[in-house]
Amino acid sequence: MQELRIRRPDDWHLHLRDGAALKAVLPFTAQRFARAIVMPNLTPPVTTTAAALAYRERILAALPAGAQFTPLMTLYLTDLTTPAEIDRALDSGAVYGAKLYPAGATTHSEAGVSDVRRLDAVLERMAERGLPLLVHGEVTAAEVDVFDREARFIDLVLAPLVERTPTLRVVFEHVSTRAAVAYVCAARAGVAATVTPQHMLLNRNAMFRGGLRPHLYCLPVLKTENDRVAIIEAVASGNPRFFLGTDSAPHARHTKENACGCAGIFSAHAGIELYAEAFEQAGMLARLEDFAASFGADFYRLPRNTATLRLQRRDWSPPAHYGFGEHTLVPWRAGESIAWSLAP
Ligand code: DOR
Ligand code: ZN
Repeated sequence: MQELRIRRPDDWHLHLRDGAALKAVLPFTAQRFARAIVMPNLTPPVTTTAAALAYRERILAALPAGAQFTPLMTLYLTDLTTPAEIDRALDSGAVYGAKLYPAGATTHSEAGVSDVRRLDAVLERMAERGLPLLVHGEVTAAEVDVFDREARFIDLVLAPLVERTPTLRVVFEHVSTRAAVAYVCAARAGVAATVTPQHMLLNRNAMFRGGLRPHLYCLPVLKTENDRVAIIEAVASGNPRFFLGTDSAPHARHTKENACGCAGIFSAHAGIELYAEAFEQAGMLARLEDFAASFGADFYRLPRNTATLRLQRRDWSPPAHYGFGEHTLVPWRAGESIAWSLAP
């Protein structure tokens, strides 16, 4: 049996939710990843350092006994965020990024930023003090085709912002298009991107295979095969600007299988195994370790982990659902197979 031993990975983009949902999903991540950048899109959103610290305590309290896992907290930027809040975040030592959700772009983004120019002073302070900006890169205008929203965001918002604030470090989260990959490759130093397993393994046909597949609906939405190939090529090149961020985003089953289903794919139950599959398919298993365990840590200026994780090439099948508080949660690949497993 083929076995792979890699440095223990980190997840640089993760949704953990809160309360019973947090308790249900956190063990999957803690089993695989040493650290995760925890997204702040709770209701209400995590807009202050005080809220981030309190959320961090709830995450630590929800960890299974003996787990070795460190949550890296983020702030949710709004039109009202102040430079002083950025100072408090950095002084706390627990906040590692601030997230820009364009208002209305995705799940729980209603309180997001209406016009990034309102953030100039905040971004300036982040640049000065070295707090990365994490970007959900999609425009929100209803008239823009949903498949064009990421590409449009680069020209209208991201590229000008990156040039206006030349020392700000920026993560273009969950890149989904050839345009985003090209932008990140050519951008100035300090611009990087996270890559999800779904944008490596699937194109938009997957959402419509034999009928509508709500559990494969996420934002940014899956794109074309041409876009998927561009993402694979960027990762295969070993470019350190591209690193692992699952964007695992749990939603209760009834809110996905719904006349107006939520965006989000739950992948934490196989958060490294799915990448192993994608890397094997692309003939680049040797690149997995740096993508999963080195490039992100280097970008965030954190030490690389020293522990290791073992994976085996052994098929397994996720169950039809997991518990999710009083509800259930349908994991990606439920009832199908995944080619790689954690070694026992
Ligand atoms: O699919 C998504 N789900 N995309 C996001 O940007 C948010 C996330 C969530 O929180 O469910
Ligand atoms: Zn996300």
